[in-house]
Amino acid sequence: MDKIKIALAKGRLAREAIAIMKEAGIEFPDYEEKSRKLIFQDKTGRLRMIFVKPWDVPVYVEKGAADIGVVGKDVLMENNVNVYEVADLGIGICKLCVAGYENQEFNKKKKLKIGTKFSNSAKEYYNKKGIPTEVIKLNGSVELAPIMGLSDVIVDIVESGKTLKENGLVILEEIFDISARLIVNKVSLKTKSGEIDSIIEKIENVLKERRSE
Ligand code: PRP
Repeated sequence: MDKIKIALAKGRLAREAIAIMKEAGIEFPDYEEKSRKLIFQDKTGRLRMIFVKPWDVPVYVEKGAADIGVVGKDVLMENNVNVYEVADLGIGICKLCVAGYENQEFNKKKKLKIGTKFSNSAKEYYNKKGIPTEVIKLNGSVELAPIMGLSDVIVDIVESGKTLKENGLVILEEIFDISARLIVNKVSLKTKSGEIDSIIEKIENVLKERRSE
């Protein structure tokens, strides 16, 4: 029978997701964080863990190349993905915020220029407020945009707040809370329901225990 494939994005989120899976009895003995390998097998031989870029996790899961994925709510909100969101893992907690200079004055006659990786979320937020914007899509180091005069504000993830602080910026508005979600391919949930349901249940038990601690 086809193996169950779990897509993760390398980094802290993967580390914490792997810890949750370990507590749930799902272990990948040959996994090493420093390894450049992209595929690991669990001890039962039934599961495969694959590493992709954060924005590609929902792509793999939606297309069925992976059955299960762990991905931030920010990525799910930004892209309209057709997957089941089955659990909030309570890890990777941060916020999507508008940030800029403190006491910044805006020229209301001009479109607000926003530098961001999250162009859809930024547009939606300001459209609801009825504020005209020009969204400048960036790929990272977004904090530079207002500093270099590329934008008036940024819409970005704030976790510890260290990046904003070290670049002289502050949170101006909070847009939404973010945490990592467990997502499942819609067809897999039907065709491999026994195994996938059991994985979800084991993970949910760990989350319940964690919440009660
Ligand atoms: C993210 C985000 C901020 C930073 C926030 O960047 O875009 O820059 O983390 O974290 P903090 O509040 O704890 O400082 P990431 O590390 O993903 O790199 P990037 O700039 O390439 O997007």
